[in-house]
Amino acid sequence: MIPAQVIEAKRDGRAISSSRLRDFFSAYLAGEVEEYQMSAFLMAVLFRGMDARELDDLVEIMLGSGASLDLRDLGAARIDKHSTGGVGDKVSIALAPLAAELGVYVPMMSGRGLGHTGGTLDKLEAIPGFRTDLDLGAFRAVLEAVGCAMIGQTAEIAPLDRRLYDLRSVTGTVPAIPLIAASIMSKKLAEGLTGLLLDVKVGSGAFMQSEERALELARVMVGLGAARGVETEALVTAMDRPLGRAVGNTLETAEAFRCLAGGGPDDLRALVVLQAAAMARLGDSGRTEPDAIAAAEAALDDGSALRRMERLVEAQGGDPALVSNPDGFERAPVVRAISADRDGRLARVEPRALGEAVVAMRGGRARLGDTIDPRVGFLLCVEPGDALSHGELLAEVHAADEAAADAGEVALRNAVRWDDEGGPLRPLVSHRV
Ligand code: URA
Repeated sequence: MIPAQVIEAKRDGRAISSSRLRDFFSAYLAGEVEEYQMSAFLMAVLFRGMDARELDDLVEIMLGSGASLDLRDLGAARIDKHSTGGVGDKVSIALAPLAAELGVYVPMMSGRGLGHTGGTLDKLEAIPGFRTDLDLGAFRAVLEAVGCAMIGQTAEIAPLDRRLYDLRSVTGTVPAIPLIAASIMSKKLAEGLTGLLLDVKVGSGAFMQSEERALELARVMVGLGAARGVETEALVTAMDRPLGRAVGNTLETAEAFRCLAGGGPDDLRALVVLQAAAMARLGDSGRTEPDAIAAAEAALDDGSALRRMERLVEAQGGDPALVSNPDGFERAPVVRAISADRDGRLARVEPRALGEAVVAMRGGRARLGDTIDPRVGFLLCVEPGDALSHGELLAEVHAADEAAADAGEVALRNAVRWDDEGGPLRPLVSHRV
């Protein structure tokens, strides 16, 4: 197998046989295909796509590059959730303990920030001491003890996805439906699940910017799951504004903890409750939606989901005191208040611009191996629809220094849309697949 020939075949839109695909990716894992060659291949996939057989092969190659968990002896349903990536999307952090509270096991494996979007792993690692690199034995022990466990892909699970994920993040090759579908489904299928909920984000802050593409991605992933015996459901949800008010790792984790304590922004709570209810129903088809929603609301309001999160954080080496005291997180050295420079009604804040600004402030990765500063980001102080007068507080920029705060302020001001700019907001949840 000559790597350049595989790249050329994809570039020219020719199908690649199963055995050539397998050889190409094995050679990459063995260090015999260079990162620049894989980057070129991924870019070719972005433009040319993959047919159904190639996608199926890619899922199997990724899945087979590592181990799979066998959790059948746990008895109860094992349900995970995965988002295709958005700005301010901290749902998973609140969702895992909440869904566990509703009676399903949640063996959650998440990713790092991808492109301009944040990743659950980076948000969890904002908790001092929290270990996302448990081996599968330790992961299983936490899952059994707490009902949920949250880690990144270990070297054992879909290691090919781990390599490609990091590479795609820094080479502009994320928004290809087959690459996203294979990345997500290979990890999830290795988790030994009985059911899977997918949150397919749509809008300018998502990788799928149109409803048609979001629905296509949702259908492809639901089909891949169903074909492998995992009951899979997808929700298409809004990413034409950040979810909640916090964008940036520490700020988002703190906001997820507030949601677990029964507070936090309404849109975040609504999505967390809806997704927990969907996971509970995937785990128990006899459960009705209103019953599952009421149980999720109660578990947020009575503190039981919060207490489960404390147990999870403690079990994974983090400081559980932060869960009920998110003000205890270390703050960025510079916190700058930004006020409105005009009167008007806030239409929305452009999510992609904020996500890109967080990466520029070193809260995400611009290159392979970059370390990130979890403290930086934005805290919006108002919501779409709010009327503001000139000089009223709009947001805070959290930055490592004054120069970064200057850049963050410019990005935020450019991202604000007033009055009727940009048209109406998308519904929080527009489709179920
Ligand atoms: N989440 C993943 O795990 N992979 C992607 O490609 C996108 C979102």
